[in-house]
Amino acid sequence: MNNRISRVHARSVWDSRGRPTVEAEVHLEGGAIGRAIAPAGASRGKYEAVDLRDGGARHGGMGVEKAVAAVNGEIAAALHGADVRDQGDIDAALCRSDGTPNKLRFGGNATVAVSMAAAHAAAAAEGVPLWRWLAQDGPVSLPLPEIQIFGGGAHAGRRTDIQDFMVMVPRAGSIREVLEVTGNVYRAAGEVMHDRGRLAGTADEGGWWPMFDTNEQALETLVEAIERAGHRPGEDVFISLDIAASEFADGNGYVMALDDARATSAEMVERVCAWADRYPILSIEDPVGQDDTPGMVAVTQRLGSKIQIIGDDYLVTSAERVARAAQAGACNAVLVKVNQAGSVSEARAALDAAQAHDWATIVSARSGETEDLTIVHLAVGWNARQLKVGSFARSERMAKWNELLRIEEAMGADTRFNGIAAFAPTVNAGLGA
Ligand code: PGA
Ligand code: ZN
Repeated sequence: MNNRISRVHARSVWDSRGRPTVEAEVHLEGGAIGRAIAPAGASRGKYEAVDLRDGGARHGGMGVEKAVAAVNGEIAAALHGADVRDQGDIDAALCRSDGTPNKLRFGGNATVAVSMAAAHAAAAAEGVPLWRWLAQDGPVSLPLPEIQIFGGGAHAGRRTDIQDFMVMVPRAGSIREVLEVTGNVYRAAGEVMHDRGRLAGTADEGGWWPMFDTNEQALETLVEAIERAGHRPGEDVFISLDIAASEFADGNGYVMALDDARATSAEMVERVCAWADRYPILSIEDPVGQDDTPGMVAVTQRLGSKIQIIGDDYLVTSAERVARAAQAGACNAVLVKVNQAGSVSEARAALDAAQAHDWATIVSARSGETEDLTIVHLAVGWNARQLKVGSFARSERMAKWNELLRIEEAMGADTRFNGIAAFAPTVNAGLGA
C-alpha cells in the first residue's frame, strides 16, 4: 500500500518570465513525495494541449488559479488511492476525467505538473533517481545537448524571424566537454556583439539578444563566434536552427519582417536549403509552418539525408502526428515537450512512435521554465538522443545542464554518450558514426 496516492496538491508559483505557473505535489501513503512544475511556451503550436490561464486583470490574465483548483479538486479525487507506479493508469485517469482531446477543462499545465510529480513520487518511493526509475531495465544514454547562442523570434520581441540560433558539439566525448566548448562559443559570441556595439543583454532563454540587420547576419556571426572561440565550424561545432516558421506564417506564405521578404512555401524551402548550403548546419527545426506538410516533405527530401529535420509545432509531441508525418515523408526527428501532450505517458508515446521510424528524439524545455529538472531525467531515462534546454545562461537553464553533469558522473563507467550517434541513421553516417 506504500505506493498509493494519499494526497495531490497544487499551488501557483512563478516561472522564469515572472509569470504564474502550476506546481503539483503527489504524496504517497508510505510517505514519499514527488513534486514538479509546469513549463510554458511562447511560440506555441496550435495543436498543443491547452495552457489554461485565468484571464481577467490579475497577473495580466496569466493567472493559473483555475488549473490549481482543478488539481486540488477533481484531479486529487480522481487519483486518490491510485498506485503511483502505474504511470500509464495515472495519465489515463487524468485524460479521462478531463474528458477533452486537448486538456481544455483542467489545462495541460495542471495535468502535466501532476503527471510529472507522480513520476517523481514513484522514483522517490523506490529510492532511485528519476532517470533510473524511468529506464527500468531498458537502455539509458546521455543526450547530445543543443544549446542556444542567440535567441530571436517570440523570445526576443521578434528582433529576428528565426527563433533559435544554437550549436551542437557531436564529436565531443562527454557532456562535460560539450558544455565547455559551448561555454567558449557563448562567451565569444558575447565578445563579438560587444566589439560591434551590438551587445544588448539576453533573450527569454538566455541567448544573446539578436541585434542583427538580417537573419543571415546572425548565421555569419555565429560562425565567427565559433572560430573566435578556437573551434572549427562544421568540424567540431555545428549550427542548429529552430526557425519556428509557424510564428511568421500568415496563411498564404511566410513574412520575414527583418529581411523585408515574403515567401511562398516553395520559396521558404529554397531559402532554408540555401542557408544549409552556405553554413555548417546540422539540424533545422520547424523550417516551415505547422500546417505546411508539402513544405515539410520538400525540406526533408532535399536535406533529410544529411541534416536533422525536427518537427516541434508541426508534431506537438503527438504519437498520431508523428506516425502521419513519417507516412508522408516529413521530418526525421521529433521534439518532445511533455506539456505539449499534457502527460508523461502521452509524451513517451510520441517518442516511441518516432523511435519506431528510426527518427531521432529530442526532449525539450519551453521558453518559460523554472528550477524543475524533470526533462533531464526523461531524456536520460527514455534513452532520448538529444536535449534542448535553451541557452548557456540563467539558472532555469543552467540547472538542467548541471543536472546532466551530475547524472554523467553517477553513471560512471556505464556512461553512454550519444555524440555522433544522436541522429537518424543517414545523418549519423554523414558524421562518420
Ligand atoms: P516555446 O518555444 O517554448 O516558446 O514555445 C520553444 C521552441 O519553439 O522550441
Ligand atoms: Zn521549436
